[in-house]
Amino acid sequence: MAVDVLRHQHVATVTLDAADGPNVLTRDQLGLLLDAVRGLRADPSVRCLILTGAGTKAFAAGADIREMVDLSEADGLAYARLGHAAADALEGFPQPTIAAVNGYALGGGSELALACDIRLASDAAQIAQPEVMLGIPPGWGGTQRLTRLVGPGLAAELIFTGRRVKSDEGLRLGIFNAVYPADLLLAEAMELAEQIAANSPRAVAAAKRAISLAFAGRPGAGLATEAALFAAQFGTAEQREGMTAFLEKRKPVFADADPEANR
Ligand code: COA
Repeated sequence: MAVDVLRHQHVATVTLDAADGPNVLTRDQLGLLLDAVRGLRADPSVRCLILTGAGTKAFAAGADIREMVDLSEADGLAYARLGHAAADALEGFPQPTIAAVNGYALGGGSELALACDIRLASDAAQIAQPEVMLGIPPGWGGTQRLTRLVGPGLAAELIFTGRRVKSDEGLRLGIFNAVYPADLLLAEAMELAEQIAANSPRAVAAAKRAISLAFAGRPGAGLATEAALFAAQFGTAEQREGMTAFLEKRKPVFADADPEANR
């Protein structure tokens, strides 16, 4: 069992690798994921994070049913909180996150993918919240994040049935941003990440924070923060470089973000 981190310039690829089987998320595996994401968060040169699963079978087949079968209510709460911590770490990662869903993303696997900003899928991907088939509701954020992504009607259907959504349907429903042949998925994810990483890291992080408020609280409550984040970018080196480069008809060159900014 491992969580591998590979750096390529400003992009970090985090790979869930349970070594055998369909990439089950044990407590230990979630702990490793949390450590990896927290470690990358402290590195200001990371401008985009890709999360994927090893091999071609599964992104992650969900929480470990063997670990859950005998849990008490108190243990179940702790288990939910551990899943929430991992998903929150991805959602709260200051720079963009891309889930490269390379196979099954079921239960907790789907919930980790839903906590990422963008989801790319291989043509073999299948995503589902099958918890009700196991006698539990989704517990690692699926009820909230799937609902925000596809709306309450569709989320209700998918969660109440637990049915698997294949890549083409996932694309149509807006769960996946794009679908690629399995052997091209990681290269496409890297290309997208590099495109993001070429932009102003402060501006991208500010946009991510503002987007995260779009569905928080009263509709429109994020507008004041959006305006403040927009305004705060003016006068920074990145704003001057980005706009000056445009006016001078050249590519902008952005330095790494100040670690204290947008974190
Ligand atoms: N927790 C614990 N064990 C799991 C698991 C999980 N979430 N998912 C798969 N496994 C185990 C299987 O029990 C099996 O164990 P075994 O080799 O000891 O028999 C092994 O992984 C391989 O799974 P198997 O079902 O034989 O492979 P498959 O290719 O036919 O199907 C899946 C793969 C992922 C579609 C299927 O295993 C599945 O539906 N898993 C459950 C997914 C789920 O409900 N996740 C939500 C949990 S909240």
